[in-house]
Amino acid sequence: MKKRGYIFDLDGVIVDTAKYHFLAWKKLANSIGIDFSQEQNEQLKGVSRVQSLEKILAWGNKTISAAHFTRLMTSKNDDYLLHVHEMSESEILPDVIKILNFLGDESQPVALGSASKNARLILNKVNLIDKFEAIVDGTNVSKAKPDPEVFLIAAKQLGMPPEDCIVFEDSVAGVQAANSAYMISVGIGDAKILHEADYIFRDFTEISTDFLKEIKKK
Ligand code: BG6
Ligand code: MG
Repeated sequence: MKKRGYIFDLDGVIVDTAKYHFLAWKKLANSIGIDFSQEQNEQLKGVSRVQSLEKILAWGNKTISAAHFTRLMTSKNDDYLLHVHEMSESEILPDVIKILNFLGDESQPVALGSASKNARLILNKVNLIDKFEAIVDGTNVSKAKPDPEVFLIAAKQLGMPPEDCIVFEDSVAGVQAANSAYMISVGIGDAKILHEADYIFRDFTEISTDFLKEIKKK
């Protein structure tokens, strides 16, 4: 099998943490008198923590001091982590382990490319940390997706040229980041939302090992 770099997003690709982000953002938004819906939560997928809070404040037409902003960020993350601490292997999305094991058996380089600053903690909680040769997360980047920085650093750490890398992403911003890095983008989720991806699957149960062997940039 030709050697490629396989780069996985975390939230929404490996585990479904969007429901925990939703609970934490909703609690925070409501505490400052702002409504927060599931639809708005959808728009925060792949968006950094800072930018998520900026969007929520803009939706609620609210301006706050820098000190208040920092306090809210900390409190959101503290709430989110209460859910993360309860996580276990049972939360790994269907067939993710099958795909990671296949790539491992084929000696393919595998990296994580996530916006989350909690990525290592979550990978430890679900016992997948050892599956990744490189982990690039929100603590390693200065520019959020759709900037390609996170994936370019991951490719570099794997020692692979960007055009030989395949990115699995559930967010529009992440697909755009992969595309602007000249990587092959595989959208995981709704084809109507992720239409910019080179390939789209609902989840990993639809991805065959033959596809992983044959995958080419369209
Ligand atoms: C992304 C999530 O992976 O990480 C976003 O899709 C989240 O919803 C972002 O805001 C940052 O995550 P964290 O864990 O650092 O707040
Ligand atoms: Mg994601």
